[in-house]
Amino acid sequence: MHAEVDAVLGSHAPTYEDVPRLEYTTKVLTESMRIYPPAWVLVRQAVNDSVIGGYLVPKGADLVLSQYVTHHDPRLFPEPERFDPDRWTPEMRRALPKFAYFPFGGGARSCVGEPFAWMEGVLLLAAISSRWRMHHVKGRKVEMMPRITLRPKYGMKMRLTRR
Ligand code: HEM
Repeated sequence: MHAEVDAVLGSHAPTYEDVPRLEYTTKVLTESMRIYPPAWVLVRQAVNDSVIGGYLVPKGADLVLSQYVTHHDPRLFPEPERFDPDRWTPEMRRALPKFAYFPFGGGARSCVGEPFAWMEGVLLLAAISSRWRMHHVKGRKVEMMPRITLRPKYGMKMRLTRR
């Protein structure tokens, strides 16, 4: 990511026009939201009796769909616990079933902020990593705290070194 950011940005601050060329940085964000989807679960209510995958879902039933569980399914993402931005090849994306990756939900109520969030996330990563290297402070516990969004229970204490 550092190499890409240096090549794309040179010495200028990242702008909207840089986003399409920050391909690897985008993969880092994609993979981060696979392993730790900020919205880790969403709920729908059946408006009619329906049959889904052979199961009867009665009218009024709540359906819980978890991004976290789906994104960690080894049938969809081999070695799901491994952080591997390179898994996001165009071929892999084409082969991935619809809704196997859904950090922004899906359907009529999916996130209206999705394009903005991608742009903002990539530009933030590029802006920070163009100047700094971030290292997790050894010995600091990393644990998930699943509330409405998925949060780090003890924060993420990082040591920054100037590049
Ligand atoms: C990484 C950042 C973000 C994530 C992971 C995220 C995720 C989500 C998810 C999972 C939903 C529910 C979708 C569903 O039920 O199918 C949602 C809805 C929504 N999001 Fe986001 N979101 C993000 C950023 C944003 C931003 C930046 C905005 C506004 C600028 C935004 C505005 C909304 C709104 C208004 C809804 C409700 C849409 C509706 O019910 O019609 N989100 N988001």
